[in-house]
Amino acid sequence: MKRIGMVLLVVCQLIVAARANDGSSLWLPREKNEVASTLVRGSQGTALDELRTYYKGPMPVRMKLEKNALQGDAYRIVVTTRQIELTASTSNGLLYAAFDLLRMQQLGDIRSKEEHPAFDLRLINHWDNLDGSVERGYAGKSILYPALSDRMADYARANASLGINGIVINNVNASPKMLSEEWLEKVCVINSYLERYGIRTYLSINFASPMALGGLPTADPLDPQVRQWWREKVDAIYRLMPNFGGFLVKANSEGQPGPGDYQRSHADGANMLAEALQPHGGIVMWRCFVYGANHKGEDRVKQAVSEFQPLDGQFLPNVILQTKNGPLDFQPREPYSPVFDQITKTPNMVELQITQEYLGQSRHLVYLAPMWKEFFSFVSPQRLRGIAGVANVGLDDNWCGHHFSQANWYAFGRLAWNPGLSAEAIAREWLKLTFTRDEAFVNPMTEVMMASREACVDYMMPLGLHHIFQFDHHYGPDPGGFKPDYPLEWCPVYYHQADSLGVGFNRSSTGTNATSQYREPYRSQYDDLSTCPENLLLWFHHVPWGYKMKSGRTLWEELCAHYDRGVAEVDRFHEVWQQMRPLVLLADKDDSRRWQEVEDRLQHQQQNAREWRQTCLDYFRSFLGAPQ
Ligand code: GCU
Repeated sequence: MKRIGMVLLVVCQLIVAARANDGSSLWLPREKNEVASTLVRGSQGTALDELRTYYKGPMPVRMKLEKNALQGDAYRIVVTTRQIELTASTSNGLLYAAFDLLRMQQLGDIRSKEEHPAFDLRLINHWDNLDGSVERGYAGKSILYPALSDRMADYARANASLGINGIVINNVNASPKMLSEEWLEKVCVINSYLERYGIRTYLSINFASPMALGGLPTADPLDPQVRQWWREKVDAIYRLMPNFGGFLVKANSEGQPGPGDYQRSHADGANMLAEALQPHGGIVMWRCFVYGANHKGEDRVKQAVSEFQPLDGQFLPNVILQTKNGPLDFQPREPYSPVFDQITKTPNMVELQITQEYLGQSRHLVYLAPMWKEFFSFVSPQRLRGIAGVANVGLDDNWCGHHFSQANWYAFGRLAWNPGLSAEAIAREWLKLTFTRDEAFVNPMTEVMMASREACVDYMMPLGLHHIFQFDHHYGPDPGGFKPDYPLEWCPVYYHQADSLGVGFNRSSTGTNATSQYREPYRSQYDDLSTCPENLLLWFHHVPWGYKMKSGRTLWEELCAHYDRGVAEVDRFHEVWQQMRPLVLLADKDDSRRWQEVEDRLQHQQQNAREWRQTCLDYFRSFLGAPQ
């Protein structure tokens, strides 16, 4: 009897577990609708399937592919009293229109509109390795390797729903194996999933592939045999995948091979690949994330401009320079990268990091859209040819580790389509699609999301502090971090430069003069301690501990106040989330799993915020005598 009871209990638990909302459906419509299928007319395959499966009516929908009606991926939705008409000039345009209509249906607000994407290139970058690990991935193993996950179609669909039209499918620290015949066959399979959703496949390449794979004695970009090898490789790729997009390259950076190994320039390297890709319409995205090579010893944040600015004008037209938003490395707050001011003749792309390497990984609730909008307030989207986001997905049930990290993927896609959208509008949209339209939930949680990035800055590295993370994994604080056998540019002490006089990195004209790389008015503004925005103060200046801040507090007091604020904010986020429980369950009684998982992570975030405050303040206090 007892045994049967146990078995029943387990079965019941399994049923409950099977029904619980695990977050896997993301922001997409959950309920299919077979009844409405006859309402949708048109011939475009994927868009038609999507609407026939999820559109709920009642009005009929007509899809029209009309040559030259609109440019590129743009689309128009016209809602009349009798029907809804979707028009585009490309099948991608119609697909995006279909997803937009479904989104409006979910939001309960279907209306006429015309949409034009801001960028032609809207890419996700995977840092997935062929062994299934993901560099800086915090949501489980790779969905791509070594075996393709059965969620691949869902993955492509989720990206298409945001307007993503390209995916770089392997790590920038690229294995040469990726270009072997065996692996290219696997790439073809991935490509077939992506293609169905209008997404082009791109590959990261290892610059030394002609040696590792082709057995050549060199990878010198000016060597005729090397050039021939790349031409043949590229031709072979296009025979397999005529819609292939091109290459992403990390060269002469953090140990990766590159043209510099042969005293050739980045332009020599990029142009060799560009020449091979050009006949097929392919592009080269060449990363500006380089330091410690030709300009070793120079302030790290200056090195990209020092390296690439003299080469501006030497790149072939199908080369695009891909640069991280800030000059260092995806910190919670950085000034924008001056590469965007200094590279004026070569097309630029920005690389954002969706995976929260330095922002609590998949354990902290940190909504990144406000940070990306901050970047766009300095670098006009019009200056950019494209946008890339480093993926945060893995095999975890909810794709991203933290349910709220899904919002960063979503926001990236929405901003890639339209960087003019506000971070707040995107948060609202995402909350409604993902949880509930109940304003009693959406309003306070929007506020939490909007405050979350500044809170993270405050409890980790306020006032322009940066890179005081623990070595290698970049999770917790290590302000005293120094390893003599590591490059200085990896050591926290190099970045904060705390001493008995003050703290911060003097990058003004009396220091490394990194400020000189900025356009006016920022150059002068950042250079002068009295006009430098306080949220970047310690990025650009070494500031005395007793310096009077705008608030009237000393620098030390201000630093303490920021750390306290950060901790208090996370406490508040947790309180709000606790109040949200009934609303989450009211919207979906099977949603207790999601609520609980967010709850657990918020508790963890509270502990981490305290640890950051204590470790950093204890460390800095040691330089001060003993100020209170
Ligand atoms: C960061 C990150 C590395 C990554 C590198 C890059 O330094 O920690 O894992 O490879 O950026 O963007 O190339």
